[in-house]
Amino acid sequence: MKHRIKHPASSFTIQNDKLPAGSVLQIDAITDNIIRIHTITGTQNTDGSSFAIENPPGLSGSFDISSHKQAITAATSCLTLKASKSLQIDIYDKKGNLVCAGARANNNVAAQLSKEEISQLIQEGHMADTSDIQFKYKATKKIMGDESFYGLGDKTGFLDKKGYDYIMWNSDNPDPHVENPAFRALYKSVPFFIVRRQNCTYGIFLDNTYKSYFDFGCSDAGCYSFGVTGGELDYYFIYGKNIKEVIKNYTSLTGRSPLPQLWTLGYHQSRWSYSSEDEVIKLADNFKKYDIPCDAVHLDIDYMDQFKVFTNDSSRFPDLKSLSRRLSKDGIKLVSIIDPGVKAEDGYYMYDEGNKNNYFATSEDGKVYHNAVWPGDSVFPAFTSSKVRKWWGDKTKFLTDNGISGIWNDMNEPASFNGPLPDNIIFPGDGKDYTHKEIHNVYGHLMAEATYNGLKENTQKRPFVITRACYSGSQKYTTVWMGDNQSIWTHLKLAIPQILNCGMSGIPFCGVDIGGFGSNATPELLSRWTEACCFFPLFRNHSAKMTRRQEPWAFDKRTLDICRKYIKLRYKFIPYLYDLCYEETLTGLPILRPLVMEYENDPEVINCNDEYLVGNSILVAPVTDQGVSVRSIYLPHGIWIDYNSGRRIKGGRYILYNAPLDICPVFIKGGSILPTYPGIPNLDMPNTRKLVIEFYPLDYKAPGNYTSKACYYMHYQDNGTDFNYQTGEYNLYKFSFSPDRPGGLEIKLTTNGYKGKYKSISAVIK
Ligand code: GLC
Repeated sequence: MKHRIKHPASSFTIQNDKLPAGSVLQIDAITDNIIRIHTITGTQNTDGSSFAIENPPGLSGSFDISSHKQAITAATSCLTLKASKSLQIDIYDKKGNLVCAGARANNNVAAQLSKEEISQLIQEGHMADTSDIQFKYKATKKIMGDESFYGLGDKTGFLDKKGYDYIMWNSDNPDPHVENPAFRALYKSVPFFIVRRQNCTYGIFLDNTYKSYFDFGCSDAGCYSFGVTGGELDYYFIYGKNIKEVIKNYTSLTGRSPLPQLWTLGYHQSRWSYSSEDEVIKLADNFKKYDIPCDAVHLDIDYMDQFKVFTNDSSRFPDLKSLSRRLSKDGIKLVSIIDPGVKAEDGYYMYDEGNKNNYFATSEDGKVYHNAVWPGDSVFPAFTSSKVRKWWGDKTKFLTDNGISGIWNDMNEPASFNGPLPDNIIFPGDGKDYTHKEIHNVYGHLMAEATYNGLKENTQKRPFVITRACYSGSQKYTTVWMGDNQSIWTHLKLAIPQILNCGMSGIPFCGVDIGGFGSNATPELLSRWTEACCFFPLFRNHSAKMTRRQEPWAFDKRTLDICRKYIKLRYKFIPYLYDLCYEETLTGLPILRPLVMEYENDPEVINCNDEYLVGNSILVAPVTDQGVSVRSIYLPHGIWIDYNSGRRIKGGRYILYNAPLDICPVFIKGGSILPTYPGIPNLDMPNTRKLVIEFYPLDYKAPGNYTSKACYYMHYQDNGTDFNYQTGEYNLYKFSFSPDRPGGLEIKLTTNGYKGKYKSISAVIK
């Protein structure tokens, strides 16, 4: 083993016969808390170029390196790394505690079986077929005790991923999404996970876009591993004193979501498809008629002419622009779907322009590659090229000129109907050709980037993009939804850990299809689903063609009343959600949080799958079982105020809660101050000019008779639309309570950059 030190010693390389010929292992101190461990082969560029990390940080950490025959020791001010001769890497904290230990799998269950047994088990569906896994590199680490694993984007299963294995290969699989082993891959590849043990937290970000594998003690309970099938081994060890700090550090590398437009936090109604102007107008009228707030209606593929992107079907939607004007009177915006597949049809402008400029992916022989998607015979833009991304982004003008306010990117794994795209399809990039094998997992990410930049340029507003497929870092460009769930109770349950893990993976603005996309919703399911998701950042009801309708009024009066009640509850707390978005721009912390993120040392919450926190002040424990109206709820320590009854409950214990169909258990943490809107019909600016601050003291007996500790809350306000906030056009308010100061809350404007201040701010003590 040889090593070479560059000066300053923020980096060193190791040569070892365990590595493939011509490769070295380079270790960089990105900061004293973030260590990059990566192989470099031959002369391949070493500038750190990455699809996820756009502005590679300098190396601000520094190593103190000593070397012995058996090992190299490199210490930053926070961490000490020991690399052994066999390239096992152990990492210690400042106090000398072993944080992460390199290991070899030694107890692989499959290794104890004969070939015949394995093949039988695979055939019977009892074992996943892993014969195609040819690891180029694999890293194995010891499971040292009570580790839990969080993150990995949208994967199925539970909050804690221990005992399962996963694949990163963006996949559109229409079967019901269930936990392993059937569903190891879904639409997104976010190869970042957080490891938590008692008193120890760190994250690993495997920045490799090829198909990759993650095994969290599944094949060997004594270790976890991650491996790649191509490219370089390139991972970041991200240390943090708690989960929040790990997420902050991870998003300092891969980026954070910019503030959304305020209206995007409202209720969205979708269906595949609202297929004519008349239908959309009736839909909007129904929201008014039934007194349900709504800010967006989504147009699925049938608004297009023969599914040709950036066109409209003039028989169904003859004048999108006037439709959007008509809807805007009711505060409703239009969002339209765009798929990547371009219909292969001579004379269709997108196809002709793309062909003329060589913008489409090709086979190895240089001929444009065809497959089939909704429009039939289709070709695929090479979003790997900045020219293609610009071209695509410019085309969004067709939509924005027609009054469309947001773009929903779908089928961008990319999905294809005539079998998967072969590995060797070529996607030309800037000065480099990429194979499908290499860029499959970033195709959706690059499409989102193109869409975001196009929308930004055309409108100067904060772009609203939703995507189905993405990669680490996509949060800079887009919100996400979890794809084609079904109207089944299992999927309502799945939504909670899925969204929580997505948030812990750096993607805060996310949601699921409320009511379920495929199969038929029932009144009870839609009611519970609307309750459960009423704080989800993306709040959209969407369903598939041929399924039972599931708009709030589609069933009976009771279901309608429940949907209205919870959609209104959502609107009430939008100022709080928007504050959490603001906090996210500064910290990367998600809006919805698992209890373990706020109560890390409470063993009860390590794998809490059926409750979530909104920021740190609201706890939601929805009913997600059919026919159930009583559930047990764990309340962490502290005083919790039952939002439904006003009762104050001491936490640190389980309670049994009566939740008939119209009740979603919601609790406010004692001592919280929360900004709210009075009942408003939508998020049009004039409706958002009044703010009501609610204060939930620890103890409340009667008006004027309450006690609490001193506390404060910072509230953010801006125009909710454009980027002026980035140059200071925003207000910050401090709402504070002090037991020594009689007269309730003090309201102070602390930063005064935005002129459109509230017309009124009032306070209530709850
Ligand atoms: C895909 C999407 C779904 C959409 C449908 C038709 O299945 O995931 O949301 O409605 O395509 O566009």
